[in-house]
Amino acid sequence: AAAGIAAVAVLLHGALTMNRLATASRGADWKLLSSCRGSCGLRAPVPAYTPTNYYYSNVYDYGLTRIVGGTGAKEASWPWIVSLQHSGVLWRQHFCGGSLITSEWVLTAAHCFDDYRDITMLKVMIGATLLHKPGPGAQVRKLKQVVLHPYYNADDLSYDIALMQLDQPVQCSSYIQLACVAPPTLKVSELSNCWIAGWGAVTARCENHLQEAKVQLIDLQLCNSSSWYAGDVHPYNLCAGYPQGKIDSCQGDSGGPLMCQDNSADYWWLVGITSFGKGCARAKRPGVYTSTQHFYEAGLILGRGIWREL
Ligand SMILES: *[C@@H]1O[C@H](CO)[C@@H](O)[C@H](O)[C@H]1NC(C)=O
Repeated sequence: AAAGIAAVAVLLHGALTMNRLATASRGADWKLLSSCRGSCGLRAPVPAYTPTNYYYSNVYDYGLTRIVGGTGAKEASWPWIVSLQHSGVLWRQHFCGGSLITSEWVLTAAHCFDDYRDITMLKVMIGATLLHKPGPGAQVRKLKQVVLHPYYNADDLSYDIALMQLDQPVQCSSYIQLACVAPPTLKVSELSNCWIAGWGAVTARCENHLQEAKVQLIDLQLCNSSSWYAGDVHPYNLCAGYPQGKIDSCQGDSGGPLMCQDNSADYWWLVGITSFGKGCARAKRPGVYTSTQHFYEAGLILGRGIWREL
């Protein structure tokens, strides 16, 4: 219960920081980004000539499709995205994404834990783009605890939101930054530059190279209508993708971020958590996301500590 309170407190703290950031972000001094303190949603420039930039000048698989219809992300493009991995036959089997919201808390989807209930078998990789070649910018953590929304229901994926606490905080860098959780006052429907990212796959295997794709927010009533999701969309969901399909999140992208750029500044809001979809990239079956904004507010109520331990 205490964990729930702590988690909510950090969400709220984030709001205060973000208001300051809204006015301070333009012309930000990047040196201030050497720790996470006081900043979120910003891409810090990656040092230009360090060996960690190993693939900038190489021929790499930019342009190949994975997040269905997406392209390979450049290093440190989304410095708050994390890979949730389990030990199986080999270590480092990616199965879900997540977003770093403080130096030790990651927001993800509750359904990521349906099949993985033993958190001692799980690890989180932060600051990577290529999972099999994470580079010195990446950090790996074990989990201290996982808390699920108390109303999470695996049958209809209602309240598909969870928080993971890392066993030790991460240090922010060019590769690792915090996501800005969208506050209730943000007019998400007015944001137009929205992106998804993840290591999920079209086929059975998850991707090594982080994929990204631009998506459109889709009206919720249309998304819930009879020839679309026919009532399966919850009031606290967001739909994003394209009416004709083709570009979408897919298996293994769950828990990862739907992000929109602020309309008047250069930082990004975490507006959604990848939750479900029927198939991937099918027409009239866009990705469905848990709206973080909705749970920002619910966090006030949940602050009584009713997050449920996994
Ligand atoms: C979608 O339709 C179902 C069934 O009518 C309803 O329970 C749900 O609240 C609707 N969702 C939205 C976003 O309106």
